Amino acid sequence: MKSSVLVIGGSGQIAQAIIAKLLSDLTADSIVVVSRSPRPDSFSDVVWYQSEYDEASIGKLSMQFYDQQRSFEKVFICIGILHDDEVKPEKRLEQLTAAAISHVININTITPVLWLKHLLPVLKRSDLCQVTIFSARVGSIQDNQMGGWYSYRASKAALNTLLKSTAIEYGRRAQHVKLLAFHPGTTDSPLSRPYSANVPNDKLFSPDFVVDRLFAILKTLPNDGELSFLDWQGQPIQW
Ligand SMILES: NC(=O)c1ccc[n+]([C@@H]2O[C@H](COP(=O)([O-])OP(=O)(O)OC[C@H]3O[C@@H](n4cnc5c(N)ncnc54)[C@H](OP(=O)(O)O)[C@@H]3O)[C@@H](O)[C@H]2O)c1
Repeated sequence: MKSSVLVIGGSGQIAQAIIAKLLSDLTADSIVVVSRSPRPDSFSDVVWYQSEYDEASIGKLSMQFYDQQRSFEKVFICIGILHDDEVKPEKRLEQLTAAAISHVININTITPVLWLKHLLPVLKRSDLCQVTIFSARVGSIQDNQMGGWYSYRASKAALNTLLKSTAIEYGRRAQHVKLLAFHPGTTDSPLSRPYSANVPNDKLFSPDFVVDRLFAILKTLPNDGELSFLDWQGQPIQW
């Protein structure tokens, strides 16, 4: 079987730092990436698939990975939006719309879990597979001191809930898979840039720094069949 690493959402800033690290470490036989965008020239050694993340496409790609006998040792689901042409993080209840909440939840919550649904047969045959799903501290209900950002907070809180149920079911059906809901800290990227002006320099991380931290955490993460919710320091975050 081929030992592969899968990166979903490959055009993102943190995802690109993950791919660059994987390419420099040379630990995986192959690096498989899925993105809505085409492969950049700098990643010519990467197996790259384009997808719009509709369920049919997620199912088809997962089946392809199965037929290719792929055994993923690591999966990174990097998908997530805070703002785009349609939505901005809400400061007040008056800014909240059903369309915005549903748009953000569709991308941040439903899409990652559809991947976990369709990848199950592939992940089942790994000896050990660590799946990192990018969550966020603002998805913690207990940690919410400031309010606001209704759609984004709700999308990550709901993501964590779905991941918890997935971890319980994976514990029965794919015992060698470890799920990590990861908070990278405020990281310089298109997602954070419009909102990071007041973040002190030492609290605004580069994608490379965050990815180094994540890989260090993965080295010591126990394969205990539980969902972990950890920050970039490896510290647990309250649910
Ligand atoms: N940056 C931060 O400060 C920060 C803090 C906490 C948590 N996070 C989380 O970390 C993850 C990566 O964020 P990033 O900072 O690397 O952001 P980014 O550079 O803006 O990357 C955005 C990611 O979301 C995907 N995406 C964007 N629009 C989408 C859409 N309409 N439908 C489906 N997928 C879409 C992209 O995948 P494609 O390759 O398909 O375009 C890409 O993987 C996100 O889950 C984010 O919530 C980031």
